[in-house]
Amino acid sequence: MPELLQQIEKTLQQLDAGTSEQVSALFAEVRKQFNDQEAYRRKQNDPANLQIFWTSWLGRKSGVLTKITENWLKPSQPDLKRIVGQELNSLKAHIEAVRLEQNAAIEAAGDSAANARDREDLSLPGVARPLGSRHPLRQTFEEIEKIFLSLGYSVVAGPEMETPYYNFEALNIPEHHPARDNMDTFYMAAPFTETVQGKPFAETAQGKPGAAPLLLRTHTSPMQIRTMEKQQPPVRIIVPGKVYRRDNPDATHGFMFHQIEGLAVDTGITFCDFKGTVEYFVREFLGPKIKTRLRPSYFPFTEPSVEVDATCVFCGGKGCNVCKQSGWIELFGAGMVDPAVYGFVNYDAKTLSGFAFGLGVERLTQLKYNINDLQLYFQNDVRFLRQFA
Ligand code: PHE
Repeated sequence: MPELLQQIEKTLQQLDAGTSEQVSALFAEVRKQFNDQEAYRRKQNDPANLQIFWTSWLGRKSGVLTKITENWLKPSQPDLKRIVGQELNSLKAHIEAVRLEQNAAIEAAGDSAANARDREDLSLPGVARPLGSRHPLRQTFEEIEKIFLSLGYSVVAGPEMETPYYNFEALNIPEHHPARDNMDTFYMAAPFTETVQGKPFAETAQGKPGAAPLLLRTHTSPMQIRTMEKQQPPVRIIVPGKVYRRDNPDATHGFMFHQIEGLAVDTGITFCDFKGTVEYFVREFLGPKIKTRLRPSYFPFTEPSVEVDATCVFCGGKGCNVCKQSGWIELFGAGMVDPAVYGFVNYDAKTLSGFAFGLGVERLTQLKYNINDLQLYFQNDVRFLRQFA
């Protein structure tokens, strides 16, 4: 290169090139220089040198081609000008061809690098999205519904916002009855813009001035009344749903919990049918070894009323902390439908009989999975929920 640089600073005359052969020889030398440098550069393959290389050859001010034009072509003898011009053009064309080829190669390399980067690797493991699971209470609901559907019961749902009539009166709980005390609930100011069972609230009995307010149902039992009002016997229904009570939240209380009401009314339903159904349900739900016992209790809408107990699921009946050493745990309240209730729905109390029960879904889930805190159901902590997946 230094040699070449010196040459192109001079004119042809100074270089003693007076014939076309000599001119061609000079250009051949320059071309060789170019090819050698290009080969070297290609071997080094340092992108930083690329710019320097091309500037030294094609730079406008002092690139080799510019110098040749300035120093060889312009001042050349008229008889040599043609051959100098031809040689220069052919050199230019050669250099340009190399440059184009090089650009194409660089572009292709870039493309294939980008392609490699962008290509989907189908062998990579996929992104696993965690599958949710049904809430333990929902699982209990479905399990219990399945048991009763297999016995010929149907599932019905009712309003959570109730009237005192359905929640209390028609269930044989008159206004000042002490049974209302442990079912304190939330009463609502008249929602005049709302509808109650399809009718604008103001047109319903509760919407009338001075009428009793609405309340959040304290149990699913109002659906006993609503069903019997609409349907003649035989009735076999279960009613899953939310119920509300004015309780302070702790391990065994909440302002909302879930029940499944059961009601069977027909001609000739006996206490034996009641007991058999209850025992069947408990064995299906808690296991074949579990025994049941009925303990006298009181509900205004059943007579006789019972608490259904089961042998303790934790100690098998031997006695432990959970069952307070008794070997028994309380499951749910139930009883034969009190004939007074039939009076509210125009059923003939002389020919009809039946039974009802009210299952606490949290409680049954708790016994099945040994859950010691009611609040866990509603905190949505996935560490808790995942255990039921
Ligand atoms: N409704 C009662 C309660 O919530 C349970 C019950 C239902 C009792 C049906 C007897 C018959 O406490």
